[in-house]
Amino acid sequence: MVIGAGGLLGTAFRRVAGELPDVDVLLPGRRELDVADRLSVEKYLVGNSPDGVVNAAALLPADLCETHPRTAYEIHALGARWVSRTCDRIGAVSAYVSTDFVFDGTSGDGYAPDSPTRPVLTYGVTKRAGESETCLGTPRHLVLRTAGLFGPPPTGSRARPCFVDRILRKADEGEPIGVVDSVVMSPTYTIDLARMTFAMLLGDAAPGIYHAVNLGAASWYEVAAAAVRLSGRQVPVARQQEQTHVSAGRPTRTPLTGVLPGRAAEHQRPWQEALAEYLREYWPAPEGRTPHPAAPSAQRPRART
Ligand SMILES: NC(=O)c1ccc[n+]([C@@H]2O[C@H](COP(=O)([O-])OP(=O)(O)OC[C@H]3O[C@@H](n4cnc5c(N)ncnc54)[C@H](OP(=O)(O)O)[C@@H]3O)[C@@H](O)[C@H]2O)c1
Repeated sequence: MVIGAGGLLGTAFRRVAGELPDVDVLLPGRRELDVADRLSVEKYLVGNSPDGVVNAAALLPADLCETHPRTAYEIHALGARWVSRTCDRIGAVSAYVSTDFVFDGTSGDGYAPDSPTRPVLTYGVTKRAGESETCLGTPRHLVLRTAGLFGPPPTGSRARPCFVDRILRKADEGEPIGVVDSVVMSPTYTIDLARMTFAMLLGDAAPGIYHAVNLGAASWYEVAAAAVRLSGRQVPVARQQEQTHVSAGRPTRTPLTGVLPGRAAEHQRPWQEALAEYLREYWPAPEGRTPHPAAPSAQRPRART
């Protein structure tokens, strides 16, 4: 079962679920299951008795957590508590999707799953609380930290397109593109992350904290420039040094390291390769232009692990 199925990552879970003909995947919307409401969580989980629950509900973008800290706490921390405790009751694995924002971003070398956490924004503080709630709620837990998601857009009215889509829309509409080069993270393809997660759940991964990201690190500027180039668009991307964002003080260097266990590791390919696959499928080159030579083709999805 996937909570947060209407979001960016949830959209990938929906698609990858179709690759698993022998697995029933429940994708409740917020009206069927409000993660911040204990009774709603208990009713849905006990009523459906899933073997595993992926909690991908979130209050995003992160700035919303600064202006609505109580709601952020209810969704990220209390939501994780209700899900994890109920999973314990019904014997399900509780998998919590977390974030690189649990780190302060001052490390030059990146962060391993056992690196000390020190969130600096409300988003990271409440997500770290959610990690703890998940681990304390049941011994059968997985915390999957991820970062910089890009992938197929959700369809709902409140859905936000990912960063890559926003850049390519600007390129196609002739708007100038300027992107900060000072924030470095681990860009990750939602489809790969959904496959990693299913592989871990179906492969009985040991309980613990994992970094579920594509390989490598990049700044948002590098991701934007790669997206424009790999999709065959020929527009300039300006490199911005300063971040004039409302949440100044956000983490700036958060590459995540660590290899996933078992078959989940097969989906940890370099982010450029994953990006090239996404662009081939969703952002064909404009007419008359040849896209950049394709990256090596991705491995085919596995129906079962
Ligand atoms: N996006 C990133 O770059 C990024 C990076 C690192 C980690 N993450 C983590 O990845 C996960 C998925 O993020 P995302 O980018 O897919 O976020 P998203 O697009 O904003 O989707 C979040 C989903 O959570 C749902 N939700 C919010 N409050 C809820 C509640 N009370 N009960 C049930 N569902 C609720 C939303 O429902 P509605 O559709 O009804 O609003 C939405 O479907 C989150 O755990 C996030 O912290 C994301």
